[in-house]
Formats: sequence, C-alpha cells, structure tokens
Amino acid sequence: MCGIVGYIGPRDATPIILNGLQRLEYRGYDSAGIAVMQKGEIAIRRDVGKLGNLVRLVGEEPLNGRIGIGHTRWATHGVPSSRNAHPHISASGRTVVVHNGIVENFRELRAELEAEGIQFASDTDTETIVHLVQREIDAGCDVTEATRRTAHRLRGAHAIVVLSADQPDRLVAVRIGNAGGVALGIGDQEMFIASDIPAILEHTRRMVFLESRQMVTLTCDAYQVQTLDGAMVDAELHNIPWDPVSAARGEYKHFMQKEIHEQARALTDTLRGRVDFQHGRIELGDLTISPEEAKRLKRIVTVACGTSAYSGLVGKFMIEELTRIPVEVDYGSEYRYRDPILDSDCAVLAITQSGETVDTLAAMEEARNKGARLWSIVNAIGSQAMRLSDGFITMQAGPEIGVASTKAFTSSIADQYLLALYLAQQRGTLTSEEMIAHLQDLARLPDLVGQVLEREKVVEELAAQLYHYTDFLYLGRGINYPIALEGALKLKEISYIHAEGYPAGEMKHGPIALIDEHMPVLAITLKDSVYDKMLSQVEQAKSRGGIVIALATDGDELIRQKADHVIYVPETPPLLSPLISVIPLQLLAYHIAVWRGADVDQPRNLAKSVTVE
Ligand code: AGP
Repeated sequence: MCGIVGYIGPRDATPIILNGLQRLEYRGYDSAGIAVMQKGEIAIRRDVGKLGNLVRLVGEEPLNGRIGIGHTRWATHGVPSSRNAHPHISASGRTVVVHNGIVENFRELRAELEAEGIQFASDTDTETIVHLVQREIDAGCDVTEATRRTAHRLRGAHAIVVLSADQPDRLVAVRIGNAGGVALGIGDQEMFIASDIPAILEHTRRMVFLESRQMVTLTCDAYQVQTLDGAMVDAELHNIPWDPVSAARGEYKHFMQKEIHEQARALTDTLRGRVDFQHGRIELGDLTISPEEAKRLKRIVTVACGTSAYSGLVGKFMIEELTRIPVEVDYGSEYRYRDPILDSDCAVLAITQSGETVDTLAAMEEARNKGARLWSIVNAIGSQAMRLSDGFITMQAGPEIGVASTKAFTSSIADQYLLALYLAQQRGTLTSEEMIAHLQDLARLPDLVGQVLEREKVVEELAAQLYHYTDFLYLGRGINYPIALEGALKLKEISYIHAEGYPAGEMKHGPIALIDEHMPVLAITLKDSVYDKMLSQVEQAKSRGGIVIALATDGDELIRQKADHVIYVPETPPLLSPLISVIPLQLLAYHIAVWRGADVDQPRNLAKSVTVE
C-alpha cells in the first residue's frame, strides 16, 4: 500500500517526512523517495527496497528544506526500482508529484504527452500526472489550477500531492475516489499531509480529511479546501483523541465503517506488483504454478468458513468461466469430516482472513494427507494457513479489526479473479488482448467502488426506515447469489436480525411462504443475464405484500415501478459485479446495526479468529 507524507513549516522537512513514512511501513512497499525544496530548487532522493536504504542515501547526500513530500511505493505500473519510485519530476525539474492510485487512462495520456515531445523517465502511470501539471503551469496556471485541470484529465481513483518550485510556499493535494485517504494535519505555523493518520499523529491531533473530488492548497499558516469544480468547502476540523484505538479509527465511528471505506484502496493494492498492465501478464509472487502444472490441473476445491466461504462461491464463477477448471466449494467444518476424494491433480484453495480458523486448517491438513496441492488466500501474514500452504496469495486488505469481515471479503474475491487469470495465462487459454481487457476491467474497480461508497447516505436513510423489522430475505442469482448469502450474514451478525440469503429461483420451492408485509426482501436485480428472472421474483414478492428493496444498475427506470426502494450501483462487468453489489449490503447492515444501538465492531458471541471447533 503506498504511503504519502508532506510537510510545510519552519522545521527541517526531511526528518519529519522520513519519520512519517516509517510510521506507514506496516502498509508494505517496495521503494521509497523524498523531494524537498532546497535553495530554490527541487532535490530528490529515491531508492528501491526498504526505507533504511533511502535514509542511508539521504545521510550520504543530505537534503535540507522547509517544504517537501515523501512516498513509499508499491509497484503497479513498472517494476520496483529507483527510477520508478516516487516523487516523479517534470522534465524541467520544476514540479514533483507523489500519487496513490492507478491512472486508468495512462496509455492515452502518455501517448498524448510523448507526441508533444515529452520524454518519460519512468515506466509509471504517475509520471503522466507531473507532466500534465507542468504543462498547465507553463501555460500560465498557478499550481492549484494546474492540479485541478490535471485531475479532470485522470480516470480512476487517486490521492495526489504536488510541489512546484514555481510556488515554493505551498503544497496542493487532491483526492478522487478511494485510493486511500488524504489527511491534513494543522499545526502551529506548520502543516502536514498524509495518506494515513499515524504518519503525522505525533505532530498534531487537529485534522481535516478530504472527501472524494476535493482538493486542498496549504501554506504553513493556512489551508483552503475546494471541490474539483472550484466551490469553496468549509471542511470539518476533527480533533483526533489521544487514545490510540480512536486515533486508528480516524474519521469513522466504527472500524467496520472504516474498513468498508478502505475497500477501494485495498483493491488497488491487490493489483500492485502482480499485474503488468502494459503486457497483460500476471505474477502472483508467493504462488507460482508452472504451465505444465496448470494444464494438468483437473479440479480445484475451495475450503473456507463464513464470509470466506461465500467469497469462494463467487470465485467459483470466476475460475470456472476463465479457466474451465471445475471448482467445488466446501465449508471447512464439513470437509474435514467427509473423507473427500482428492489426488495430485487437484488443488485445494483455502480462503481465510485470519489464517487461524481451526476448521479451515483441519480441512487443509486433510487435503495435505490426501496428496493435493495446497494453496491459500490469507490476510494475516505469517499465520498458520500461510505456513501450511505450498503457495499463497496475501490479501492486501490490511488489518481487519471489525469482527464482521468486509474488506477481506472483497480483497479475497479480487485475489481469486487474479488467480483465475493467472491459471488461464499459464494454461494458454486467453490471448494477451483478452487478458489486457480483463485487467482493464479490474483496474476500473477501485473507482467504481469509490462511486458506490459516495452513495452511503442513500443506504443510511434506507436503514432508518428498515431497522425495526425482525426478518429479512436476501435474493440473488448466478454470481450474485453468494452476495445474497453474504448480505444476510452481515445483517444477522451485527444487528441480530434474522436474515436469510436464498438463490432467487428456489423461492417457489418454499421460502415464498414467508413473504408478507412484515418481510423486507432485498433483491439483487442488476442488468445482467438473469435480470428478467430477478424482475419476476421482485413481482412475485410484491404481489404477496413483501417490501422490496432492489439493488439495481444505474439507469434502470423499470425497477423503480416494481420495487419499494431502489439502491443504484454503477454498471460493472458481470464477472466483477459482486465486488460492487456487496458494498451497499455491507453499508445497510452497518447502518441498521447502528440504528439498533448494537456493538458493531464486537458483536455478541462472535470472535474475529475462530480457533475452536
Ligand atoms: C465474517 O463476517 C465472520 N465474522 C465469519 O464468518 C468469518 O468470515 C469466518 O469465521 C471465517 O474467518 P476466516 O476468514 O478468518 O477464516
């Protein structure tokens, strides 16, 4: 996960920035860099590997200045190297940029800039940003306006900080979508900026958080927040409490809410270092599968529990469609006791956030004893599941504190999508054009997730109308059937409301008897191949007096006439739609639980890591 730190004030910026970057080290990175204004010019130091390398470099070639920016990078476009590390500098050497996110349209932008004669010094998408900003400054814009105009050219989700020698008394930062936060720290005649609170918490507790599509210009004694359209914003000043737990929660009321909002960032990080967008290739690092092995594979068995098992059900659709390898999904708790049929042409894939779930571990042991290959998708680094596996993919969700799993769910689904593409690549079943198209779909996701999160208010208002009901039914079909299961699980575990997830086609075989005016029915009715079928389920529920909440695709007017409430989400390629459709359901469960006064982060009877049978 990339980290950003910036400083402007009377003190030496270098130690403040390096120290801040150190506090973000837990996020993981592969290179680091810093730029400060030194004697009227921008001076940069960058190095690959751990921060210690950069600190050593700065020791050998010191940097002194009162304003600067620093960055820890986790590679997306371009290998980890000092030339690809941030900050990136314009050709004239007058402007530098650090950036978190993916510039989805970087190919077009790069081609446009190269056609104007600009030579790129790195392989990154970020470098396009600094050249665009410099071009606007050269055309007469001040740095704020240049950054704004540049931001309007970028597709995707971003956090950006700009420093220009042409206005060396200020920093400009932008946030678009959820590629990580932008926290502004207000000190006494000094200002700080960071992608995450811990980086600057030792200097100030007074903070402002940028919302999506906002930008800020800061000098050492003032800051001005605006929208990207130029409207002034009276941004709320937060006093971050001293207690470390509340500090870590930052601007959010609960960890669960924070973690729901971290999903765009987590998805961006999932792609980092694994996806080569330029050549349409994937490497999974700690999971290598040779082409021969991939071709020999006859079956994949996914074992997991709870939310992780539902993630596996979504992954089944992805892996089967992209590789044509059959996938079975089983609960760890069942699998361990059913003498499963396995051999060396089978791979068992364990999905576990904690890596310590005893039923999943037992299923893995069972698979190991039967001679299957053992893979895992795990969030907790160094956990038992990771150690047991022949190969693993680490989720890039970051620590998940809320007992109800949210960001680990979407991260593990994205990991399965990458696994599916990787298997297809190794089996040679996708052309590189097809691969690039799939990867581009994936690259759009963080932005789409950000768009859904921006609609939280709609879901919050709906929660206020629904929280007093005692039973809910969640319906979905196809790849969104597991999302109905997950939506129902989220609701029951944190609000203690009885909720059931059902494949919509099964309604007529029993559950339809439950429907009456006391039963809200949440129907995932996206514009996909099962849309018409879902529409008829909505009609059936309505005609029996049910209260229908439809999760629908933007622009679907028909559904408005059929359902009592509609939650719209942006159109998404069908195979990736669960990553979008689950978010309103997480938010709905969260806000209903808040309305009911439940202990959202630590629901009764549940543990984050289930280490007993
Ligand atoms: C999710 O919200 C639950 N708390 C629970 O179902 C969880 O997903 C399950 O216990 C599996 O945990 P794991 O991913 O750590 O193995």
